[in-house]
Parts: sequence; C-alpha cells; structure tokens
Amino acid sequence: MMRLSQSLSWLPRTKINAALLCLFFSPGWLAAQTAEEPAATQLPDSPSQQAASTETEAPPGENAAAEEAAEAGERPRPQEEARRSYLGRVLAKPMSHLGAPWLIRPERDEEERASESFQQLKLTEGMVVCDLGCGNGYWTLPMARDVGAEGRVLAVDIQREMLQKLRERSARIKLNNIEPILGGVDDPRLPKAEVDLLLMVDVYHEFSHPESMLWSIRRSLNPEGVVALLEYREEDPSVPIKPLHKMSKNQIMKEYQANGFKLVREYNKLPWQHLMFFARDDSPLPEIEPVPAQQVLKDLE
Ligand SMILES: C[S@@+](CC[C@H](N)C(=O)[O-])C[C@H]1O[C@@H](n2cnc3c(N)ncnc32)[C@H](O)[C@@H]1O
Repeated sequence: MMRLSQSLSWLPRTKINAALLCLFFSPGWLAAQTAEEPAATQLPDSPSQQAASTETEAPPGENAAAEEAAEAGERPRPQEEARRSYLGRVLAKPMSHLGAPWLIRPERDEEERASESFQQLKLTEGMVVCDLGCGNGYWTLPMARDVGAEGRVLAVDIQREMLQKLRERSARIKLNNIEPILGGVDDPRLPKAEVDLLLMVDVYHEFSHPESMLWSIRRSLNPEGVVALLEYREEDPSVPIKPLHKMSKNQIMKEYQANGFKLVREYNKLPWQHLMFFARDDSPLPEIEPVPAQQVLKDLE
C-alpha cells in the first residue's frame, strides 16, 4: 500500500487518500474480506462459543459464576449470539489484516490528528492500559512508550496476523511492556479490575458481540478506570468513511448506557472522530452530558 501511495505521488494527497479510503472501505473490499478472510471465524471459538455449540444448558461452573456475579452486585455475563445489528445499528465486519499497511500510513496523523487524540489519553508512567482491537499497533507502541517500564499495555486483537505484525513492530523498537492477547469475538480475555485506561480506535463498531465485549470491558476496569472510544463521526457526511464504519454520538450513548457505562469526559475538536471517555456507572467519577453533535460541527466550522 505504501508503494501504491508512492506510485500515485503525482496526485494531490487528498485524492490519494480518498482513493485509499475507497479501496479499503468499499463494499467490494469488505465483501472480499468477509468471503475470503473470515478473520473472526478462522480463529478458535472462545470458551463461551464452544459451550454454546455443545451444551444444551449452562455447565455447573457457569451457573456458579453467574450466582457469584449476582451476589457481588455484578451484571451476569450476557449469553449472546453473533449479531447483524444492535439497538438499531448495523454492525460492520472486522477489517482484515490485509489492510494493515493502511493503519500505519504516514498521512494518518495529519488526517485524523492522532497525536492530538493521543495527548487526550493523558497516560502516565506505571499505568495499566489496554489497546483493544490493536491491529498492527499504531496506538500500542506510543502507549508502551508513555506508560514506561513500570506500566503494561495489554494489546488485544482477534486476528493472529495483526498480533504478529505488532510483535514485529514492537521488537524493532525494543519495548517489552506490551502483552499481546489473542481475544475471542465475545471476550477480550482481560484481567478483572486492573485496567486504568482501555482504548478502542475504530473497532467498537466491528464487534459482532457488543454486549459481551462491553460486559468484559466493564469488568476489566478498575473503579476509576475509563474507556477511551474513538469512532468516525456519522453526523458529518464530509468524513470520507463508509457509513457502516461510522457511529453517531446518540448511538454511542445509547449502547454504552445500556451496558452499565456513563460518560465522564469528551474531546470534540478532532476533524473526523468522536473521542468519548466512559467509566463504569458505579465509578466515583462524575457523569457529564454530551455536547450535541450538531453543536460540535458548528463549533468546528
Ligand atoms: C480498523 S482496525 C483498527 C486497528 C487499530 N485500533 C488502529 O486504529 O490502528 C480494527 C481492528 O479491530 C480488531 N477487532 C475486531 N473485532 C474485535 C474484537 N471483538 N476483539 C478484538 N479485536 C477486534 C480487528 O481484527 C482489527 O485489527
């Protein structure tokens, strides 16, 4: 892809970018990924999927876990099948690892102002952070640098190939505080109550099991831990991304509130994306009201 970009260097940069975006987000490209590269389904089933396909009732351990969760005032783990839509939103398919070069294209920072988003994460040394849906590690590597040797970055993806590319990139810069985790489509396999900040960039809208993922994410957060969610703005038709890969603020609020989260911070100055911070609804962090998207667009003019 880099070579493609270079060979198109006679085109204005915006045209090259538009071409690349169309290539990666055209329905044909997506169909090819899902038909030939069923990334999620090639991986081994998560324990709960295996249980779903072989058991007619929950195994005794699962009942005990549900009872324990209820006693501790926790929500029980959702029993969820793969979905096509969720609360009125059609779900996108995971982006294939074949598109990985696009994630680390040199112009990404300029287009999305990624470093500005990154600063908003306010990472400090020693934090335990998670890059969920890490891909080939565009965000993971700077996260590892900022949390330092005392910190940890749990880097989760459902595609082994993405984790392999992440390993290669992180080996080159000699960081050893990154823990790659092969997640399941309904379970990121994170430790309980340890995560200070969990980042999801352009991934949440791809979850086939949004309730199960949000349940696991909520469980992974420490009491003051937050989710930092970056999604392309659906409300802005000028953002050059296919509609299935965008989310509206109202939809994000609907899905997160329904799954035990509250909005605690947001950053509304990015050119293409919403950046919203959610905490558990029982967190001591104060809840805020979102600035309406139309107001955000007006302020950006
Ligand atoms: C569009 S890429 C974004 C990668 C990275 N966050 C970035 O911004 O460069 C989305 C990634 O999320 C991963 N993904 C999709 N569903 C997932 C899930 N349930 N758990 C973990 N990763 C998932 C895909 O495999 C893919 O690597």
